[in-house]
Amino acid sequence: MQHYSMTPSTFDQDLDMSQMELPPRPTLFDFHGVSMIKHVTENWDSIQNFKARPDDILIATYPKAGTTWVSYILDLLYFGQTFPERQASIPIHERVPFLEISAPSRPSGKDLADQLPTTPRLIKTHLPVQFVPKSFWEQNSRIIYVARNAKDSAVSYFHFNRMNITQPEPVVFGSWYDHVNGWWEKKQTYSNLHYMFYEDLIEDCGREIDRLCSFLGLSPSAEEKERVTNGVTFDNMKANKMTNYSSVPVMNHRVSPFMRKGKVGDWKNHFTVAQDEPFEEDYKQKMKNPTLKFRTEV
Ligand code: A3P
Repeated sequence: MQHYSMTPSTFDQDLDMSQMELPPRPTLFDFHGVSMIKHVTENWDSIQNFKARPDDILIATYPKAGTTWVSYILDLLYFGQTFPERQASIPIHERVPFLEISAPSRPSGKDLADQLPTTPRLIKTHLPVQFVPKSFWEQNSRIIYVARNAKDSAVSYFHFNRMNITQPEPVVFGSWYDHVNGWWEKKQTYSNLHYMFYEDLIEDCGREIDRLCSFLGLSPSAEEKERVTNGVTFDNMKANKMTNYSSVPVMNHRVSPFMRKGKVGDWKNHFTVAQDEPFEEDYKQKMKNPTLKFRTEV
């Protein structure tokens, strides 16, 4: 039986997954008020006891907000020149481990994070703010939260669920509303948190990289910045095997590529007017905080 936990090196993007015997999708369950799957709760104590360091950088997002994009920007800013071989040989999801993931027969995200040889360690999480291991707060680690508007997040997540057999139905990590608001509130009391938006990255990636650098205390040369900006364009990341997730066995890019469209406003191709109206009503009810504003077009 070909199992989805086989090592990435044995996987070929052209493998026909329709011929494979695939495990069932995991079941969604309520976990302290948030819809989760066992792949992200199984090692809960160990995740909660993760020992963050003061120089760790946590990239936190609700899924599909541009996690990979910002992970790659940071990886290039920090290690593009010192460890170019990492970019060429280690996929981004191993360079920036997914803290809470524990898939069968693969090293857990927490173990990968523990073993990261770099300083700083770049670590990714989709956890809502209340689930983040407390050591990150105690160590005053820097955190970058990336948010994306609800409609494009929903569309992107919908297509991701179609192509990734570890995704339950409908979605994991709970409510988008709770996530973006919970992290926004945290930012009011925790100053080492940089809250950024996918739409701003699309509008002006160079400006957003400048903001990231100023938050992180980095001052890349103009040439270095140019190199990073060029490396992280949608087309370049889509063509790059180390950033396009083509080495991940649970994803079937024939169903929908991980690097799908990379646009703001694709929701207009999916939402009918009849769907958009109740969505907007519900949105108004749930987004009470006037200081947190999203753009659904740029
Ligand atoms: P779409 O499905 O709308 O195309 P995450 O990394 O959090 O899972 O987010 C994935 C989404 O970010 C996908 O959105 C993907 O195409 C988009 N994305 C990734 N890299 C990007 C880039 N360099 N430019 C624009 N969008 C990017």
